[in-house]
Amino acid sequence: MTVAIKSPEDIQKMRVAGRMAARVLEQIGEYVQPGVSTAELDDRCNQMILEQGAISACIGYKGFPKAVCTSVNQVVCHGIPSEKKVLKDGDIINIDVTVIYEGFHGDTSKMFFVGTPAPHAERLVAVTQECLYKAIDLVRPGATLGDIGHVIQQHAESNYYSVVRDYCGHGIGRVFHEEPQVMHFGKSGTGLILQEGMTFTIEPMINAGKPQTKLKRDGWTVETRDGRLSAQWEHTLAVTSDGVEVLTAREEEPFFTG
Ligand code: MF3
Ligand code: CO
Ligand code: CO
Repeated sequence: MTVAIKSPEDIQKMRVAGRMAARVLEQIGEYVQPGVSTAELDDRCNQMILEQGAISACIGYKGFPKAVCTSVNQVVCHGIPSEKKVLKDGDIINIDVTVIYEGFHGDTSKMFFVGTPAPHAERLVAVTQECLYKAIDLVRPGATLGDIGHVIQQHAESNYYSVVRDYCGHGIGRVFHEEPQVMHFGKSGTGLILQEGMTFTIEPMINAGKPQTKLKRDGWTVETRDGRLSAQWEHTLAVTSDGVEVLTAREEEPFFTG
C-alpha cells in the first residue's frame, strides 16, 4: 500500500476546497425544513458550489446523477436527491458535499434535523458526531489508523449502537477515493502509521440497530437492513507536524480556525 504525502502547496489547495465544501453545509441548513424535497436541497447545494468557483465531484462519479448525497432516516449513505423525497417533521438527514477546486477534493457531511427530532434520533446523531470528534482528536504523526477505528467503535458500542463495516473513510487529494481505507472499527496500535502530509477522511456511519446494510435497486442508496436509523458525519483532514488540521471545519466547530 502506498499512501501519498501531499506537499504544502497541495494542502493549501485542499484547504480552499475544504472550506468551500464546509460553506455549503453552513448555508444549506436554513433550507432543511418540512415540505422541502431533497432535489431542491441538491439544487441549492450545487448553486452554492458553483458560485464559489468549484464543481461537484459527485455529478457523473461512477454515474451518480446529482451534486450531493442526501441520506434520510434509515439511509446509511449515498442517497440520491429526488423530487419525490419530501422531508417531514422528525426526519434526520445527512447531506454529503464533495467539491473539486483546482483539481483537489474537499469532502464533508453533517446531519440536520427536520423540525423537531425524537429524543432517540437526537441521541444517535450526537453520539455519531462524538465518534468523529474523538477520532479527529487522536490524529497526529505516529498514531495509527487502528487507533481511529478503535475509538469510534468503542464510543458507538458503549452507547449500544453499531458501526457500519461495509463503507469506510478514504485518502483524498487529486483523487476522490484513494488509499488508505479508513475503517471505523479496529484495534489500537494496529495498521498504517500516520505521517505529516497525509490527507484522508473520517466518516463514521453509526446505526441504532444492527450494522448490516443493503443496497437498493437504484445501485446507490444504502439502507440499514433492519430499517432502523443511521447517522453519519464526515470531515477531510490533513496530518500536520504535531497534530491535525480539519480542512472542512465549519464556523460552528471548536477546531475552526478560519
Ligand atoms: N462523499 C461520499 C464519500 O464520503 C462519496 C459519494 S460518491 C457519490 O466518500 F457518487 F455518491 F457521490
Ligand atoms: Co468521503
Ligand atoms: Co462524503
